[in-house]
Amino acid sequence: MSSTAFQFNERPASSLQPRPGESTLIEVTDYTVAGWKPPANPEDRSRWYCARLEEGQILFFAGTPYKLPADDRDCLIGVRQTSVAYHKNVSYRPREGRIHGLDRASADADRLRAIMGAYSRHVTAFAADFLRPYARGWKLDFASFRSLEERGRDLPLKQRNDLLHTDAFPTRPTNGNRILRVFTNLNPSEPRVWLTGEPFDVIAPRLAPDAGLLACAAKARSSLRPLSRLPGRLGSALGLPVPDRSPYDSFMLGFHDYLKANGAFQDSPAKSRCEFPPNSTWIVFTDSVPHAVLSGRLALEHTYIISEADLMLPEKSPRQVLEKLAGTSLRN
Ligand SMILES: [Fe+2]
Repeated sequence: MSSTAFQFNERPASSLQPRPGESTLIEVTDYTVAGWKPPANPEDRSRWYCARLEEGQILFFAGTPYKLPADDRDCLIGVRQTSVAYHKNVSYRPREGRIHGLDRASADADRLRAIMGAYSRHVTAFAADFLRPYARGWKLDFASFRSLEERGRDLPLKQRNDLLHTDAFPTRPTNGNRILRVFTNLNPSEPRVWLTGEPFDVIAPRLAPDAGLLACAAKARSSLRPLSRLPGRLGSALGLPVPDRSPYDSFMLGFHDYLKANGAFQDSPAKSRCEFPPNSTWIVFTDSVPHAVLSGRLALEHTYIISEADLMLPEKSPRQVLEKLAGTSLRN
């Protein structure tokens, strides 16, 4: 589908002055917690927003476009000062209804599990309506509550959130499917501040060869490759958590680390500062939009794995961009 098939009155959010080729914010004004505002055609409008995401743009809502009860919000803001303070994130696995990263002895555990479960259901209902084509084939990944202040955190380089990077999951390979994330700033008084860089299809031709794409492609073509997948297959057959990682996933994991360690990329002027105000929500493909969190605490986030088959602009997906550069398939 052409990205120019629909003409709507989108407007860039005022906090950002984008330059050509950079990721931009588009403020969504025709969807609220009550749903689509008439006279929008929800199907066409959804497809238009999906295409903007796949171009590397960030969809921004000045408010929270799904149900988030005040009691739940207050509880999350308060609980950070007790049991959560010693953990990086609290994560919630919606398919299992389980919560991780919280002190087992915490009196807040049951309440927090219930709040995260309700959050997951409500934000997913919103995303399924707002981005209709994706919901048909998506996989619900984890949700998280990010309680700690990001500014000044002392973390090893690969774990630093304040360096520009694209996302890849070591334990959950996607084989070319996409990582879509919905964030909400719960902080009642302070913005969450990001940097964003040029999208994947712009930076990959410049950086992927130096990041090891050609070696990865050679491995993908190798007749020995089936042997390299044995550990993953054996592991999953035995019920062990050994990921069956495709060449695409191996490259994307390495690219995450490469970008964080690349001083010239980090210092490049081709980046934008985004301030997400209290209660705002934003949606972004974090596997294609380089991002860094400079400051902020108290955020909710939900991840969805979007099927390649449901993309509006598959030629802009990292897998297709890389395969074009490498001249070979990088999938399992
Ligand atoms: Fe990230």
